[in-house]
Formats: sequence, C-alpha cells, structure tokens
Amino acid sequence: MKLLSGNSNRTLARAIADHLDAPLTKAQVKRFADNEVFALIEENVRGEDVFVIQSTSYPANDNLMELLIIIDALVRASARRITAVMPYFGYARQDRKTDGRTPISAKLVANLITRAGADRVLTMDLHAGQIQGFFDIPTDALVATPILAKDIKERFEKANEVMIVSPDVGGVVRARALAKRLDADLAIVDKRRPRAGESEVMNIIGDVEGRRCILFDDIVDSGGTLVNAAKALIDRGAAEVSAYISHGVLSGAAVQRVQDGPLKHLVITDSIEQPDEVLKCGKIVRVSAAPLIGNAIRRIANEESVSTLFD
Ligand code: R5P
Repeated sequence: MKLLSGNSNRTLARAIADHLDAPLTKAQVKRFADNEVFALIEENVRGEDVFVIQSTSYPANDNLMELLIIIDALVRASARRITAVMPYFGYARQDRKTDGRTPISAKLVANLITRAGADRVLTMDLHAGQIQGFFDIPTDALVATPILAKDIKERFEKANEVMIVSPDVGGVVRARALAKRLDADLAIVDKRRPRAGESEVMNIIGDVEGRRCILFDDIVDSGGTLVNAAKALIDRGAAEVSAYISHGVLSGAAVQRVQDGPLKHLVITDSIEQPDEVLKCGKIVRVSAAPLIGNAIRRIANEESVSTLFD
C-alpha cells in the first residue's frame, strides 16, 4: 500500500499516514510559472495499491486538477490500483439541474476522476448519498456521524437530553441518524433559499423551548444557514445552540459570522485544511477524521469489509 498526498490537505494526509504508521510516498506536486500543475512521483509505484489523499476543497478547480494529474502520473507509472481519497468531495452540491440549461457538475467531476484512471473512490459525508452512483467505479462513502457523536457525548453531560436539529428538510435523514445514535429528540428547520448563497428560516418543526440544541449538517459554507437557524432557535426559546458539521467550507465572512452569531460553538472535522483565521477562532473546534479514513484505507488495502465503519 502506498499513500500519496496532493497539496489540498497535507495535515490530514500526514495524520492518516501516522495513524497507519506508513510513510507518505515522496512526490512533487507543483506549479509551472504559468500555474499549470506538474506531478512527479519520486518512488517506484509499479504494481502498487495507491491511495491519493486530496480533498477537492477551495481552490476547488486547482485541487481537482492536481488530483487528476496525480492519477494520470500513477496510471503511467503502472500502479496496480488507484483510490482517490476525497475526505471532502467538492462540487457535490451541483448534483442536479436546478434550472433549464444548467450543468450537473458533480457528475462531470465524477466522470473526470474515473476517466483519469481512478479505480475506486473513498469519500466522507457526500452531500447526497446518490452521488455514489455518479461514479461507475466502487465508491465507499464514510459517515462522520460516529466521530461527531462521540464528541457530543464527551462535551454534553446528558447527551440524550439535547435536541438534534436539522437546519433544512434535506438534512433530516442525517440528523435523524445522529438523534437515534444519541437517543435524543429531533427538530427540523424549514429553510428556504430565495437566492443562491442566501437562506431564510420559515418555520421550526418541534418544541425547542428551554432545550440545548445541536444543529447538524454536512457543510457550513457562508455560515448563513447555521447562524439564521441558531437565531431562530434562540427566538423560539432554545437555551443554547451549538453546531456539528462535517465539512468546514467556511468561505467569505463565515468565520466572522460564526464568531458574532449566537452559536455557542461549532465543531467541524479536518476534511478541509483550515487557514489561521479558523484555527484561531475560539468558537470553532476541530475533530479529526484521520483514524476513520485511515481504518477505511487499511481495510480496502486488505480487501476487508468497510461497512462496519459506516455505522
Ligand atoms: C445545503 O443543503 C447544505 O447542507 C448546507 O446547509 C449548505 O451548503 C450551507 O451553506 P451556507 O453555510 O452557505 O448557508
């Protein structure tokens, strides 16, 4: 087994390598003067089972291109099997036509990764489970729920007394799974998006009065969904609101929004490398997905079942 990292999340790649007690394969992934990507694998990978760790997070296009070019280099170096390990799969939210004459970019990206030569995909908390079907190669989609649930149990004395809140109707299945795991109640925010990047709370389904609420979602991007939902919950009498989110996209003024808003704390995983602004924000806590991803890599390499890791 060989582990290889692109530039998108070297911290996580190193943590996965540490967990597996395996080195990262020596490689150069750099830019030419005109910004074209160049990859050089500096070790023999002929006949090897190679795992390329690369989240397609911001800058999504550069990181995607790096992944494609690394895969191409591995194909030409005769790697036996190539797994694209994408802790965060960017473009996932463009998973359907939202209007006439719009693309389904998640499918296009899946095609690109497959055509580049990936044999399998390992990812975590896909925005929609159906995206697995966009790949015509085996796709293992891990869920971060167990590691986030563990943090909730450590942070909240009576975890079964919290109220898990889905910040929109699309996230109910995910939130219900967490509520079931904690034996906690579930509430749902009825969110509308008048325009892309803007969100409005229409209603809250469930009695949140006096409750410690935990918003649970796959992505925090602008932070609008979370902060608006947290405000609405406080307006309806919630005692406090925290949030647990798998992928901290945190673009634009998101960190400031979280800092200034009513959230007690925001817990994210390390699926996306974070800038200092996030690392220094006192309200944002990170839990590592490295052991989960590392265990999945080990099981895939050993041809063992990974389904126990989905529970
Ligand atoms: C949408 O369906 C996702 O699950 C997230 O709720 C959304 O991407 C969050 O975006 P923002 O933080 O920009 O409101």
